[in-house]
Amino acid sequence: ELPFAKEALEPHMSANTLDFHHGKHHNAYVVKGNELLADANISAVSLEELVKETAKADGPLFNNVGQHYNHSFFWNILGPAGTAPSGDLAAAIDATFGSLDALKEQVNNAGVTRFGSGWAWLYVTADKKLAVGSTANQDSPLMGEAVAGIGGTPVIGVDVWEHAYYLNYQNKRPDYL
Ligand code: FE2
Repeated sequence: ELPFAKEALEPHMSANTLDFHHGKHHNAYVVKGNELLADANISAVSLEELVKETAKADGPLFNNVGQHYNHSFFWNILGPAGTAPSGDLAAAIDATFGSLDALKEQVNNAGVTRFGSGWAWLYVTADKKLAVGSTANQDSPLMGEAVAGIGGTPVIGVDVWEHAYYLNYQNKRPDYL
C-alpha cells in the first residue's frame, strides 16, 4: 500500500500517475515476482536478501524482485510535506556536495543522463561516504558494484523510467526531476 493518499503528491505527481505506476506497474512486478518465486528454490528471508540472492542469477525473477524493492523504497521516501535534512545528514551533504541545492543538481543530473530506464540514487558507500549515481533498469546500489555499477546503502532513489513521469510530463524527464 502507498503510505500516502494518491492525491497527496499533486501537482508534482498526479493521482492518475500513481494509479498506473503503483496500481499497474508496481503491482505487475509483485504478481509476476510471486509467480516466479513459487517455482524458485530460494532461502532468502528478507526482501533485501532476496534482491542480493536473485541478482546473482540475473533473470526474470531478479527483474521483478529488484523493481519491487526499488518501488517499495521509492514510495516510502516520498511524501507531501518535504523537510530539509538536518543533523549529521545535513552536515554530510554540505561537506560532500557543498549544499543541498548542489546535491539536488547532482541527483537530477544522474537521472537525466541515465539513458533509457533506471534509477538515480544518493547512497552511502562501504567507506561511509555519501555519493550520487544512477543504475539501469531494476538495479540498485544495494546489489553491489559488480551488478549495479555502484554499491552501497540507498538513501534516496528516484525512478526515471518513463512510466514514472510520462502522464504528467510526457518526454520531459528534467521537468519531472
Ligand atoms: Fe517505476
